Amino acid sequence: MKRQSRKDYRHDPRPDPACSVFVFKVAPIADEAAAIFYTRLFEIAPEVKPMFKSDINQQGRKLMTTLGVVVKGLSNLEAIVPAAQSLAIKHVDYGVGPDHYPPVGAALLWTLETGLGPDFTEDTKAAWVEAYTALSGVMIAAAYDADSSGAIS
Ligand code: HEM
Repeated sequence: MKRQSRKDYRHDPRPDPACSVFVFKVAPIADEAAAIFYTRLFEIAPEVKPMFKSDINQQGRKLMTTLGVVVKGLSNLEAIVPAAQSLAIKHVDYGVGPDHYPPVGAALLWTLETGLGPDFTEDTKAAWVEAYTALSGVMIAAAYDADSSGAIS
């Protein structure tokens, strides 16, 4: 299994806790993080499994892209709104509905908690919850009429 080179993720490290954790702790364990994430997601939301058609290596890369998008959303949501909107519309084609956002957010948190242990502090967790909730709110609003927020706790 080929590991992503670190330099791909070492861009613009900003001092907020979610971003630092992503750049320095999560990206280097991309493959393991992907395995934890998808195992957890398919446990808590088995109905989404058939939507994922790429192989696990590609999924690992997509997970890292997803986390990168979430991290960018935290520090500069307005700048990524147009990209998040088109991403959300793509997700409708994958078969994703608004109710799928909370389990995906929960699986992301689980991955960070499991993969990072004590490095995943309460502050870091709060920053990730805020970022994911804000971004999924934008994506859901762009792609569905529903008033569901995608909030996770
Ligand atoms: C903040 C929320 C999310 C972000 C930032 C995100 C990001 C991404 C990105 C960047 C890709 C790759 C797109 C591409 O290949 O062009 C992707 C693919 C995908 N996402 Fe998401 N995603 C999010 C939420 C979700 C949710 C809630 C689901 C529901 C299960 C989901 C299911 C999928 C699927 C099925 C694919 C395609 C996988 C494949 O090609 O096999 N995503 N996502």
